[in-house]
Amino acid sequence: MKHLTVFALAFVAFADARYMAKIGTLMDCGGISANVTGQFYTDPIPVPGEGFGAFDFVLSQDLPMDLVLEKMAWKIETGEVIPCLGLAGGFMGSCTIKLCESLDQIPDFFCPFFPENLPCNCPFLATSGTVKLNLTFSEEYIMYGPGDYEQKLRLISEANPEENLACVDIKYTLINA
Ligand SMILES: *[C@@H]1O[C@H](CO)[C@@H](O)[C@H](O)[C@H]1NC(C)=O
Ligand SMILES: *[C@@H]1O[C@H](CO)[C@@H](O)[C@H](O)[C@H]1NC(C)=O
Repeated sequence: MKHLTVFALAFVAFADARYMAKIGTLMDCGGISANVTGQFYTDPIPVPGEGFGAFDFVLSQDLPMDLVLEKMAWKIETGEVIPCLGLAGGFMGSCTIKLCESLDQIPDFFCPFFPENLPCNCPFLATSGTVKLNLTFSEEYIMYGPGDYEQKLRLISEANPEENLACVDIKYTLINA
């Protein structure tokens, strides 16, 4: 029965889609504190729509309290930057988020993605686990059209923004549905 429901939901989502996002790669882009490997379970993802994935991480050192999540998104051919789409954009778009403050202010947004066995607040201590990752394609993505895109997620310290503590890079292609 559960499978039927999932299938029905997927069908509704696909019927509405203008584009499909085919995932190219989910890669570790180099961080001094963490190694990351991941995959998406929804592929392709309807646009607008949402798909889910997860990445396993090994955090080899404790992370600082001035932790910042920097999201950067652009269309590869033109260099057009996808702007910050707020909470509706989920992990996508281009925004800079003070992570420790946000976890306190909007735990309902971030905490569902956290490993179940870890506390959803700072400081993050060295450990390993699995973080869920949803790609949320809001309506805004439609106007950027088909093509290749890149979405980068960097964890940095506000005091030293040049250095990646952890970094994930996702490439995908929008094709006509
Ligand atoms: C990531 O993995 C490589 C290869 O196993 C290792 O040399 C490196 O120290 C690891 N980096 C971190 C931050 O854990
Ligand atoms: C992630 O996306 C899936 C599929 O759309 C959805 O069922 C799930 O609730 C989402 N998870 C979160 C934490 O938003």
